[in-house]
Amino acid sequence: MTENIAAENTPAATDAATTVAPLDIVVLAGGISHERDVSLRSGRRVADALTGAGHRVTVLDPDAGLLDALAAHKPDVVWPALHGASGEDGALLSLLEAAGLSFVGSRGDDAALAWSKPTAKTLVARAGIATPASITLAKETFRDLGAANVLSRVIERLGTDLVVKPSAGGSAQGVSIVSEAAELPRAVVEAYTYSDVALIEQRVSGVELAVGVIDTGDGPEALPAVEIQASSGVYSFDARYNAGETTFFAPARISEEAAELVAETAVAVHELLGLRHVSRIDFILDADGTLWFLEANVLPGLTETSLLPQAIEASGQELGAVYGALAAAARH
Ligand SMILES: Nc1ncnc2c1ncn2[C@@H]1O[C@H](COP(=O)(O)OP(=O)(O)O)[C@@H](O)[C@H]1O
Ligand SMILES: [Mg+2]
Repeated sequence: MTENIAAENTPAATDAATTVAPLDIVVLAGGISHERDVSLRSGRRVADALTGAGHRVTVLDPDAGLLDALAAHKPDVVWPALHGASGEDGALLSLLEAAGLSFVGSRGDDAALAWSKPTAKTLVARAGIATPASITLAKETFRDLGAANVLSRVIERLGTDLVVKPSAGGSAQGVSIVSEAAELPRAVVEAYTYSDVALIEQRVSGVELAVGVIDTGDGPEALPAVEIQASSGVYSFDARYNAGETTFFAPARISEEAAELVAETAVAVHELLGLRHVSRIDFILDADGTLWFLEANVLPGLTETSLLPQAIEASGQELGAVYGALAAAARH
């Protein structure tokens, strides 16, 4: 049976500020990915915001009973607050689509493209947007050709100032910073614990920026960029989910000119990857003004410390109103 976590939250009777007609929304949260806990927190926050805006919300944790539960419930809109594989890899989104359900977020096949960091980087680079030089390395190649042979070639090409990450994933899990050759083998093996393919990237320095893109029916628009300043220098898993480890600036402390470039580029990435309704595009802006694309998130984190909600608040809008407008735009 599908567990009903938040058992039919009833809209607050006093809430008059609903800008769209009340909808029956199923929020999906949990799942079995490495980011299950983050997803549960995102789901709870989305459910609260939507309930506060007058919508009727049910939270479901995807399991073998999910598709039957959705078929029986027939919600107006599904909100997949799922992170990591099964959500962001597009598999579940494709099934929602096949079931004819309206849902907030990108179509399954488009999500799958963005979920693969090497694929997203390739498509973005083709459009003339900068992304750090990288090598994509499958586990079998690493094993068959010999770690030492392979990694010495990687270093010849990319140097030793590197970031190693799983080719797909989130919440910085399996991501390592490498500053000397001796650290590289361990970093690659660490990435392989999360994915059979590792992405080895040149490390770029600058201001880290996360840019929410929202489309409620009038075309995608960038929210104010959020600047991330992690006390450790790296926006790691701990830096993300422990209060006080990271300072955020929303909007980012960048020039108006840079802010325009960031907004335009984020919308361009959202469009060229074929994304829908909502995404978060992450960059590093270096001292020369080059904006480096890191990755696109198709189901961005929506927890109390997540970037997209901060961006919405920085834009002067209410979370519940924006989420409600997204749900209304998704309904077909
Ligand atoms: N090429 C890079 N140069 C510098 N820092 C990077 C680079 N790639 C990733 N990082 C740092 O690592 C973090 C996690 O990497 P990212 O690719 O965004 O993975 P995730 O999908 O887990 O968020 C980023 O937020 C950033 O702080
Ligand atoms: Mg990221």
